[in-house]
Amino acid sequence: MIIRPRRLRQSAGLRAMLQETRLAPRNFISPLFVVSGKGVKEPIAAMPGQYHFSVDTLVKEISELKQNGILSVLLFGIPDQKDAKASRAYADDGIVPQAVKAIKDKLPEMTVITDVCLCAYTDHGHCGVATPDGRIDNDATLDLLARQALSHAKAGADFTAPSDMMDGRVAAIRAALNQHHFPDVGIISYAVKYASAFYGPFREATDCAPQFGDRKTYQMDPANTREALKEALLDIEEGADMIMVKPALAYLDIISLVRVECLLPVVAYNVSGEYSMVKAAAEKGWLDETKIMLEMLLSIKRAGADLIVTYFAKEAAAALRDE
Ligand code: PBG
Repeated sequence: MIIRPRRLRQSAGLRAMLQETRLAPRNFISPLFVVSGKGVKEPIAAMPGQYHFSVDTLVKEISELKQNGILSVLLFGIPDQKDAKASRAYADDGIVPQAVKAIKDKLPEMTVITDVCLCAYTDHGHCGVATPDGRIDNDATLDLLARQALSHAKAGADFTAPSDMMDGRVAAIRAALNQHHFPDVGIISYAVKYASAFYGPFREATDCAPQFGDRKTYQMDPANTREALKEALLDIEEGADMIMVKPALAYLDIISLVRVECLLPVVAYNVSGEYSMVKAAAEKGWLDETKIMLEMLLSIKRAGADLIVTYFAKEAAAALRDE
């Protein structure tokens, strides 16, 4: 035998030298849920290790993330009131603007990304405005999304991340940000977002399950590949600064494709279901949580993601330090 691939795997040193992909805390974006109140750190039942934070405890959590080498957070607001027009989604004194201001006040170098979507703010739980006959009105939603993004920008957000999947929202948000003199606030578009059952635990966390129908008229069919590229290219044309693929694990082929076909940074969202499955199995002692977590994140990066939104951010950063 002349060619022996095993020669290169003989020692820990060689294996470390030849590793093609490496994870680093700077690649992780930590999603966080913010609620009103003071001193709140309420566990989310379906997502062990994740919490609802009030603004004060949120800032404390983020300074711990920072100590672990995490450079960015993605904020989800949970409002006190919901209504048909999602009024609390675009209020300048809404929960997300309050959180952004507090973070930027204490930790100005932290890159703050805000989720832009109406589902946690509408009484029916859909990501857009509903018509009387129960359809989701694309164009009526665009104005509200732009206002929501603007309220986040005014508070000091670095990036807004629309996750609603309405057509034309990146262009609408870009225009509103430019018009109001926020040319440097960026857009990370959830360009390729599938209608996935992996969002289950998140919907419990944000109380945003649709009260009628489902999200299939705006989120993508998991069977589709070409459509992913179409969505990504459209959002780039509309002015997105980064492109997101979501979920991550069951869509590694899509991450690779978008990586090859697009020049922008690619972000993958390691979603709630992917997180909670590992937590549940680990709780039963069925698998090694730390190893599984790192292997999953490594696979997402190997597939082509530059950045990974993950609920494991803090734990993974700590595990990498110990490696
Ligand atoms: C809101 C939104 C969802 C997620 C992120 N933004 C839920 C959904 O679209 O139903 C899912 C995140 C996760 O599961 O971790 N539109």
